[in-house]
Amino acid sequence: MVINGSGNGMLLKARGLTKVFGGLAALKDVSFDIREGMIKAIIGPNGAGKTTLYDLLTGIYMPDDGRVLFHDREIIGLTTHEIAALGIARTFQTIRLFTGMTVIENIMVGLHHRTKAGMLKSSLRFPAARREEAWMAGEAMRYLDVVGLEMQAENLAGSLPFGQQRLLEVARALATDPKILLLDEPASGLNTYETRELGEIIYAIRDMGITVVLVEHDMGLVMRISDEVLVLDYGEIIAEGSPESVRNDPKVIEAYLGSQLD
Ligand SMILES: Nc1ncnc2c1ncn2[C@@H]1O[C@H](COP(=O)(O)OP(=O)(O)O)[C@@H](O)[C@H]1O
Ligand SMILES: [Mg+2]
Repeated sequence: MVINGSGNGMLLKARGLTKVFGGLAALKDVSFDIREGMIKAIIGPNGAGKTTLYDLLTGIYMPDDGRVLFHDREIIGLTTHEIAALGIARTFQTIRLFTGMTVIENIMVGLHHRTKAGMLKSSLRFPAARREEAWMAGEAMRYLDVVGLEMQAENLAGSLPFGQQRLLEVARALATDPKILLLDEPASGLNTYETRELGEIIYAIRDMGITVVLVEHDMGLVMRISDEVLVLDYGEIIAEGSPESVRNDPKVIEAYLGSQLD
């Protein structure tokens, strides 16, 4: 299998990804490219394999077959921490926040991976650690500002309305300073107004130089903000292209027939 080198602006290349759970293939020979700076949506009915794909890209699972090159470096086989350190961040379909910690503390957790001291070793007794804390607080506010949560910094994460908890997850992922951000159904549970705002936030993230991958069921959001859409069905790619071409693709329409999606 030949995979061309960089120079064509490809940030991530997946080739032949296959993942089998208990005899059933959640993903079958999935190959695609993600160009730097784009917003790429991945859609498909429930069970199509979207979250599993993220799990492979972030090192949670090993594929049974296939490769993933990130900046021309093979990342299959690396740990979740190694992959995060290379610049791949994600959010989860089910919110995973430290609900008993404040909003800003949740961001600090993401930031600690980037400091020299690290969370366990840091101590306020040392000036360097204190400087690091001050730097982290400033950085954390910067990310909260991106998602519009700066006024909530000192509130408990668990006290935020659901939509804001989702945005906090996005901010925490941003705090790892990623080159690519994988969002797993970020609009799920959001109202129409919140979903519109989320679209603006995703644009702002893209404008920060971060490539965005969007697994999402809200077709309005997907069609409005994506540069490219990839459609999975039963673990296989059935269509890929512009929002317009995908929307009118008979295979896509058929895959969505009978589903609850609008
Ligand atoms: N850890 C797992 N163990 C067994 N089966 C799994 C596991 N994770 C996902 N699956 C199965 O893989 C398929 C794809 O699931 P998933 O990737 O979550 O789909 P999507 O995110 O598109 O809804 C489903 O049939 C699901 O039941
Ligand atoms: Mg999923």
